[in-house]
Amino acid sequence: MHDFGYDVSDYNAIEPIFGSMQDFDNLLEALHKRKIRLLLDLVANHTSHEHPWFVESRSSRTNPKRDWYVWRDGNRFWPPNNWQSVFGGSAWEWDSKTESYYLHSFLKEQPDLNWRNDEVKAAIFEVMEFWLKKGVDGFRLDVVNMFFKDSEFKSNPLRLWGWRYPRPYEFQTHIHDMSQDEMHPMLKEMRQLLDKYNAVAVGEVMADFAGDTALAASYLGDNDELHLTFDFTLLYQKWDAHAIGKTLAAWYTACSTNWPTLVFNNHDQDRSVNRYSKAFENDARAKILAALLLTAKGTPFLYYGEEIAMKNGSIEKADLRDPVGIRFWPLTVSRDPARTPMLWDKSHNAGFSTEKPWLPVNDDYLKRNKEAQEADAGSVLNFYRKLLAFRKENAALRLGSFSLLDRGKNVLAFRREHKGDIIDVYLNFAAAPSAIPLPSGRVLFSNQNRYGLSRSLGGYEVLLIAVDS
Ligand code: NOJ
Repeated sequence: MHDFGYDVSDYNAIEPIFGSMQDFDNLLEALHKRKIRLLLDLVANHTSHEHPWFVESRSSRTNPKRDWYVWRDGNRFWPPNNWQSVFGGSAWEWDSKTESYYLHSFLKEQPDLNWRNDEVKAAIFEVMEFWLKKGVDGFRLDVVNMFFKDSEFKSNPLRLWGWRYPRPYEFQTHIHDMSQDEMHPMLKEMRQLLDKYNAVAVGEVMADFAGDTALAASYLGDNDELHLTFDFTLLYQKWDAHAIGKTLAAWYTACSTNWPTLVFNNHDQDRSVNRYSKAFENDARAKILAALLLTAKGTPFLYYGEEIAMKNGSIEKADLRDPVGIRFWPLTVSRDPARTPMLWDKSHNAGFSTEKPWLPVNDDYLKRNKEAQEADAGSVLNFYRKLLAFRKENAALRLGSFSLLDRGKNVLAFRREHKGDIIDVYLNFAAAPSAIPLPSGRVLFSNQNRYGLSRSLGGYEVLLIAVDS
């Protein structure tokens, strides 16, 4: 638990603090009964340093598992090259037992597997089959473009600026420690395994800067590599209808005939409410994002709490858990604020647990919680529910083609079309009304009191129109 689950010491077991294998089996069965599918987060770039593979590997230079990890000779004071850990410091850790360095792209407790060794690939495929045979429906692949590194271990070129916070990692162009071509044939093989079980995989793609649509799309192959990938360009966009529209269009172009994802939140990022914070307009903005997520083209990914517009928690230094937050404190880079307990109701600990939770409960939980929002017809939660229902009923929203409509600076407007059904979506990113032309058709949905199509968009209005064809 050095990186809270991203340091696996046994791929075929359940970490006891979360329960037992029987609990897992029960969970899977209960989900499937309700027609909910379950994907597991597969962390295959690295293991825990406590994984028996690594324990063996580091035990001697001649151990059969030695080559399962990335070992390099070097001088005690001079690492093999300039590669940096994403979490700070050199990516190389000196191991005195065998007097050599091992690679860790994240913490030193997370040694990188050597994907150039076919036994590693076979072992991870075996892990996948173990879970697929149990009936899981697929995987999220952690940092999927980092598995392979340059075979000659060339140093990365330096660059002059970082983009998020001043850690040495940002001052390199990551051309040698990630995104190597060898990933593609491997993913083609993995796809065959997944297809055998009718399972899906979504890959997290690490980009050098704030997202990289072309790189993320490249791992979809010709619909023969990953089924889905995450690109975070959209997530990092500022609150700007035009910029978001442009990013979407670029993402779709990059995906070509492959299928895109849409994502605004995850466990590594500040919550979107904070990123797009605007005094009393937060819920209005949360609804615009919800509408975008559920009506634009792509598989939407929702992070717990997003459906009630949960904010970042405020975490005191003493309560920090995230190793990144602790290492870089007082820079506010911790991922803890986005990982606080789900706010269920106004009872003790927001109904999350009777025990002290691992991170403090957000202090607005008495007002902002799932139960309170359920009772409020205008809440973000009920907004999500309504739109999810629309999405379910309207194939155009799920499967339709996408084209941007130009409706000025503050409005993101687009058309979804499927088998002759046309739905236009209008999202006003501003608090002020926007005078734009609306097509003739039927109002499918609006979050404001509106009488047909008689007026243009209200402030922060979300309007869906079934267009007359
Ligand atoms: C990406 C995950 O999203 C993040 O939470 C984790 O710390 C790193 N990969 C390392 O596994």
